[in-house]
Amino acid sequence: MMTERTISIIKPDAVAKNVIGQIYDRFEKAGLRVVAAKMMQLSDEQAKAFYAVHQARPFYNDLVSFMTSGPVMVQVLEGENAIAKNREVMGATNPAEAAPGTIRADFAASIDENAVHGSDAPETAAEEIKFFFTDAELCARKR
Ligand code: PPS
Repeated sequence: MMTERTISIIKPDAVAKNVIGQIYDRFEKAGLRVVAAKMMQLSDEQAKAFYAVHQARPFYNDLVSFMTSGPVMVQVLEGENAIAKNREVMGATNPAEAAPGTIRADFAASIDENAVHGSDAPETAAEEIKFFFTDAELCARKR
């Protein structure tokens, strides 16, 4: 078991539904600790850069529009196997395929507006953490 850090984004649809607290509850019950957090209105440039890996995909422009449509809540989660654990708690990308009791099954309406993002690997987690936070903003938490 490895202590890891990962990026989680509560997307504009879930912020608009006012379920930030309910989503944090899922993280905490899964043993994930918030070590940094900020609410942000992403600019077009920020959203385009964050999702640059998907720029050739047909949904890219819609994804950028959606992610800039309202505030997002961005947090760094820490815990044992935090990257996989966060993705387990999130559920499948398409909420129609997400396991019951996952965040996307309970709070997401469609694959285009699917409530949360989570880093998918250690390298992307490191890049995404740097994208949003400085080292000084990451807090040590007692375990
Ligand atoms: S996929 O489709 O399994 O390859 O998904 P993935 O590579 O993990 O992430 C794709 C991100 O784009 C968002 N998105 C969509 N994916 C697929 N189809 C459609 N129509 C679509 N619209 C948006 C999807 O939510 C993933 O976003 P993040 O924020 O990374 O979860």
